[in-house]
Amino acid sequence: MKPIGHQIIRLEEADSTNTLLLENPEYLGNHGLVMIARHQTAGRGRMGRQWASIPDAQLQFSVVMHPDIDVADIPLVSLAAGVAVADALEAVTGVSPRLKWPNDVMIDQRKVCGILVETQPGQGKSTHLVVGIGINCLGGIQDYPQELRDILTTVAEASAKPVDKEALLLAVLRNLEAQHTLLRRGGKADLLQAWRKRGALQGRRVRVETPNGEQEGVALDLSEAGFLVVRLDSGETHHQVSGNVVWLN
Ligand code: BTN
Repeated sequence: MKPIGHQIIRLEEADSTNTLLLENPEYLGNHGLVMIARHQTAGRGRMGRQWASIPDAQLQFSVVMHPDIDVADIPLVSLAAGVAVADALEAVTGVSPRLKWPNDVMIDQRKVCGILVETQPGQGKSTHLVVGIGINCLGGIQDYPQELRDILTTVAEASAKPVDKEALLLAVLRNLEAQHTLLRRGGKADLLQAWRKRGALQGRRVRVETPNGEQEGVALDLSEAGFLVVRLDSGETHHQVSGNVVWLN
């Protein structure tokens, strides 16, 4: 298996690097291929949201992965990507990010990186994933769209060091490779532990979407499957498998 980042395609502009990889079988068949764009005209976020592209200020890239792990463990790749980015940010820039389930990377309760993991349906035996990562590296909050200014931050806002985007990209790719190797070797418990350390979950009040509509509760832990375990105010224990979680404190 070739390492993640064995080939990096650099584009001036793309609609969405996730879409480009998903729609092109030649790209999607190449585990470890990375595509990075300076600007995206139709960047996509989780749950059908748009991703606002700020050319040069952000790192916007996607990675093809054919995870060589149990199908049941595939959702863990999404958590692994969050850990890979948080660790890379800390190593390269000195900031100490936290993770908001499943994989938003936060600094001072503000989002600095979003991750969108997608699968091409009908991909046969081996699952082909595209892991899309957008990191707000440079500039101040005022350089980003008005409607996002209350919720985002940039690495430059939080770090005293100048941000080296290329060094950060390579560190993320190295960490993703290391996380994949860990999972392949049965190191699921280590990944969950690394996530928990960054997750700062305990006692956090959250609002989650349940089959009975939105409900509030207290986050308890990350389950072995990588789901968020919440004690709802109704007393029930709920496992959040996907969807949105709002931090209330
Ligand atoms: C989110 O927070 O909702 C996820 C945002 C993911 C953005 C990245 S940027 C590179 C890749 N291409 C896309 O269209 N989206 C991801």
